[in-house]
Amino acid sequence: MTHSFPDQFRALIVGHSGAIGQAMTTLLAADPRCQSVTGIGRNTDPGFDFQIPASIETCCAALAQQPPFHLIVIASGLLHSPTVKPEKKLADLNFDSMQQLFCVNTLGPGLLMSRLAPLLDRQRGVMAILSAKVGSIEDNRLGGWYSYRASKAALNMLIKTASIELKRTQPNTVLIALHPGTVTSALSRPFGGATSGRPALEAAQDMLNTIDSLGATDSGSFVSYSGERLPW
Ligand SMILES: NC(=O)c1ccc[n+]([C@@H]2O[C@H](COP(=O)([O-])OP(=O)(O)OC[C@H]3O[C@@H](n4cnc5c(N)ncnc54)[C@H](OP(=O)(O)O)[C@@H]3O)[C@@H](O)[C@H]2O)c1
Repeated sequence: MTHSFPDQFRALIVGHSGAIGQAMTTLLAADPRCQSVTGIGRNTDPGFDFQIPASIETCCAALAQQPPFHLIVIASGLLHSPTVKPEKKLADLNFDSMQQLFCVNTLGPGLLMSRLAPLLDRQRGVMAILSAKVGSIEDNRLGGWYSYRASKAALNMLIKTASIELKRTQPNTVLIALHPGTVTSALSRPFGGATSGRPALEAAQDMLNTIDSLGATDSGSFVSYSGERLPW
């Protein structure tokens, strides 16, 4: 159960159909202090597809008609698809794959962050955007996965930059990049996620505990599920 949000708080989970989004939705629905948890994705109404930018605008305009949200988690993302494989070497770089990953991991979440930040409650409002530790430039020791790493690094820069502006315009807002750890999901499965990953519910509980502990001074951080600060 969360403690830092007001009683009857409202939550929004973007990418509710994914393993982590689903787990977050389940946990919040069971939190007696949470009044409502709204899930949005490609198959909801309102909903959106990152490949269709106008759908992001329409979806956010519909959400703007609702009361403010106290917690927004953007839990969508892409590592592979039938036509995208993470690059093992420089020669593998390919325009279409790069475009798909940047669309889903950077451009889409960036636009959502822009349109959803004003919908946060001004007293207690947290927006956590799922990033990945492999998007850390400083921490990159192994190489590979060029487009996924770069799309998350660019997402991190959008988050950091927005957090600086929001400190002025919405001083109580907490905006963070959140690393979930390795979690069993469709995204991680081809890369050993089923054996090396943790169940999504366990990871989501840790992330909600960490989110619950954050205040305005933590805004603009890259935070791990455990609460550890990660290098950008
Ligand atoms: N799993 C891990 O080990 C791990 C590690 C580090 C970071 N992360 C990050 O954590 C986040 C969640 O990952 P996950 O493991 O839960 O992945 P997942 O189970 O594969 O879920 C991915 C989510 O993204 C949505 N999505 C993909 N393409 C989209 C598009 N074009 N438009 C709208 N939504 C789209 C999916 O919607 P559909 O159901 O409609 O496809 C789904 O809701 C991602 O940002 C990922 O990069 C995960």
